[in-house]
Amino acid sequence: MKITVIGCGYVGLVTGACLAELGHTVVCTDNDLSKIETLNRGGIPIYELHLDELVARHRQSGRLSFTGELGEAVRAGDTIFICVGTPPLESGDADLTAINRVAQLIAAEAQGPKLVIEKSTVPAQTGQQLKRALAIYSRNRGLHFDVASNPEFLREGTAVLDFMHPNRIVIGVEDEAAERQLREIYRPLLERQFQCPVHAGQCPREEAPTFVVTSINSAELIKHASNSFLALKISYANLLADLCERMDANVEEVTHAVGLDPRIGVEFLRPGLGFGGFCLPKDIQAFIALGKRAGVDMALLRTAEAINKHRIEHFLEQIRNALWVLKEKPVGVLGLSFKANTDDVRFSPAVELARRLLAEGAELRAYDPQAMEKVAPVLPDLQLAKDEYAAVSAAEALIIATEWPQFKCLDWERIFRSMARPLIFDTRNLLDPDQMATLGFEYYSVGRTRQTRRTSAL
Ligand code: UDX
Repeated sequence: MKITVIGCGYVGLVTGACLAELGHTVVCTDNDLSKIETLNRGGIPIYELHLDELVARHRQSGRLSFTGELGEAVRAGDTIFICVGTPPLESGDADLTAINRVAQLIAAEAQGPKLVIEKSTVPAQTGQQLKRALAIYSRNRGLHFDVASNPEFLREGTAVLDFMHPNRIVIGVEDEAAERQLREIYRPLLERQFQCPVHAGQCPREEAPTFVVTSINSAELIKHASNSFLALKISYANLLADLCERMDANVEEVTHAVGLDPRIGVEFLRPGLGFGGFCLPKDIQAFIALGKRAGVDMALLRTAEAINKHRIEHFLEQIRNALWVLKEKPVGVLGLSFKANTDDVRFSPAVELARRLLAEGAELRAYDPQAMEKVAPVLPDLQLAKDEYAAVSAAEALIIATEWPQFKCLDWERIFRSMARPLIFDTRNLLDPDQMATLGFEYYSVGRTRQTRRTSAL
């Protein structure tokens, strides 16, 4: 099928490249022409595992192309996926300016009927507004637009895997024609007729994804409800961590045993610096704002959000207590992206913690395996180190702020010798407390005052 993708960010690029992998002919566009230039030069403007290989393969196959001409892109596809950003407004509501602008442009540029699909995360009832806007903006052109919702459940760092191996595909439609068109688009995934780059063609045998067909409003709600529940679980884990610290218990043992209940699950119960990124923080805010507008008390989610926001204060207090004076103190920071395996620093708790420490006069030196380029314009005063060892040399404290797995394999004896004070704040419980104690570090982590021998591996 011929498909247009509007927006070449973390969602749009993965969506376009994976749809090309499924056999469709995809034209991607973005109003940031530098992104289009980078892509047409064979570059990738974001770091996402396997994306470069997919984009190169399908630029080569001719099934994937990029243009800065939105009109050309709109006319190329019978189906249009809107994958533009919906950042938070001051009020917490999602900013739908980009969605509205795209509706205007589609209505002006289309030369025939289109199925317009919201893949961007939007509040419930946005689809109804989008349908109305398309009709209004095309009122003198005699065109017909169908609208559908198809929320994404892609995690950064595993987005290609998540697209090719979803456990569910959710669509919100108004008629059977739209349902048929979306079933056709995803048929290779539903019939498991594809080879994905993650498994180099040896995809594991697994159940086909559940194809959930619902209304547009419900599909939009499913996305916000899913992300807000994930955020709730994380805040619950952080609540348990605080309790474990005061009760001399071990949060990893508690959350592991709690998560063994299949009704709960062990995923998303890792305590730490809290949830960040361009999704969870803004989606829980938008969901709270939606509930408020609908007259529903969203106190449960407001509390989850407040717990998350307090994580930065929690660690700042711990760091101040240990360092006494922060001003002019050399502090090393490992990790700036909002989570491991991504270069994305948007709403990163690690960046927020670094910002607060700089504001209090600490002399930071930071290193991140992927996010250095992206963080420079965000925190211009932050001194960036060439590697982990340069970041910690002569430091009076080291903060592990993102759970990059390579940090576990560093030469910790060398680090012990090179620090002015062997003091570590492991905000992501990345390291082993016993190993750190044996090496002689003053080691603070999350909810793990004591480590008991466990009967089975975590
Ligand atoms: C999330 C959702 O997982 C995904 O389904 C949705 O489509 C987009 O938003 P993403 O934002 O890429 O994906 O990252 P995710 O893996 O969910 O992590 C979000 C944040 O929560 C990160 O800052 C991570 O460090 C934190 N986190 C995650 C925890 O603090 N504890 C956990 O147990 C899991």
